[in-house]
Amino acid sequence: MTPPSILITGVSSGIGRVTAAHLLQRGFHVYGSVRGGDAPPELADNPSFTTLTFDVRDRAAMAAAVADIGAAGRPLLGVVNNAGVAVPGPVETTLEAEYRRQFEVNVFGLIAMCQEALPLLHAAKEAGHEPRIVNVSSVSGYLTSPYMTFYSASKFAVEALTDGLRRELLPFGIDVVSVAPGPTKTPIWSKGSTQTSGFEGNRYSHLIPQLDPYTKAAERNGVEPEQVAAAIHRALTDERPRPHELIMNKRWLARLVRLMPRRWQDNFFTKRYR
Ligand SMILES: NC(=O)c1ccc[n+]([C@@H]2O[C@H](COP(=O)([O-])OP(=O)(O)OC[C@H]3O[C@@H](n4cnc5c(N)ncnc54)[C@H](OP(=O)(O)O)[C@@H]3O)[C@@H](O)[C@H]2O)c1
Repeated sequence: MTPPSILITGVSSGIGRVTAAHLLQRGFHVYGSVRGGDAPPELADNPSFTTLTFDVRDRAAMAAAVADIGAAGRPLLGVVNNAGVAVPGPVETTLEAEYRRQFEVNVFGLIAMCQEALPLLHAAKEAGHEPRIVNVSSVSGYLTSPYMTFYSASKFAVEALTDGLRRELLPFGIDVVSVAPGPTKTPIWSKGSTQTSGFEGNRYSHLIPQLDPYTKAAERNGVEPEQVAAAIHRALTDERPRPHELIMNKRWLARLVRLMPRRWQDNFFTKRYR
C-alpha cells in the first residue's frame, strides 16, 4: 500500500526537523523542505523522506516541488506550515526590509504554500482521506511582547488565516488547525538575537544587553521540540483535532495574562524592560 505523505516546510533545524523524524517513525512518507544543501542526515538517509528545495518566498520553486509530489502519486494527507523567522526590534526603528521579511516568510509564504498544495489535498479528500493543514503559530499569536511586535503580528495573522481557511475548507472536508508553541529549545532565538540593528544607535540601545540573556532563558526554559512534534502529529491524525493548541510550560500563565485587562497586560510585559 502507498504510505500517506506529509509536506513540512523548514526541516533544516528545530521543530520542523524533529517533526519530520517523528512522522517518519510513525509510517508517513515525509516531504521536507530546505532552502539549500542537504536535509539533516537522520532525514535524508531515510528512504521514506524526500528533500524538497525551496524558499517560501519563491513561488515558482514551491509550485515545482508540489508538482513533483503530485507526480510521485502518494496521497498528500497534510501540509505543516512550519518555516518561520523571528525578527526582533522596536517598531519605530526596524528597517523596512526586515519587517517585510517577517511577513514574507511567516505569512505570505504560508499562504503561497497553502494555495500551491491545496489541489493535492482536495485530490486526497476525493480519494477518501481526511486531509489537514497544520500551521505552526506561536504563543506570540496569542499575546504580544514588546520588541517582538512584528513576529507577533505575523503569528496573529497566522491564527486569523487558520480560522478563516478552516471555515472556508470545512465544507470540502479539509481541516485547518494551528499548533502554537511557547518558547521552544530551537536555534530560532539565537538566530534572532544576532539581529540587533533596530536597537543600535538610537533611544532603544540601552536594551541590547537584555536581549541575549532573554533569548538564552527562553531556550533554557522552553519546551522540547519533541513536545511540539507530538502536538503536530495529533493535529494531523486525531479524528477531531483541536483547532488551536498552545504547547508551553506555564500555559496557565499565558491564559491568565490574556484574560487580564490590556493595561494590566502592559505592566506584565514592560516591567522587565524598565
Ligand atoms: N522556537 C520557538 O521558541 C518557537 C516558538 C513558537 C513558534 N515557533 C515557530 O516554529 C516554527 C519553526 O521554528 P523553529 O523554532 O524550529 O526555528 P528554526 O530552527 O530556526 O527553524 C526554522 C525553519 O524555517 C526555515 N526557514 C526560514 N526562513 C525560510 C524561508 N524563507 N523559506 C523556507 N524556509 C525557511 C529554516 O531554514 P534555514 O535553516 O534555511 O533558515 C528552518 O528550517 C516557526 O514558524 C516559528 O515561528 C518557534
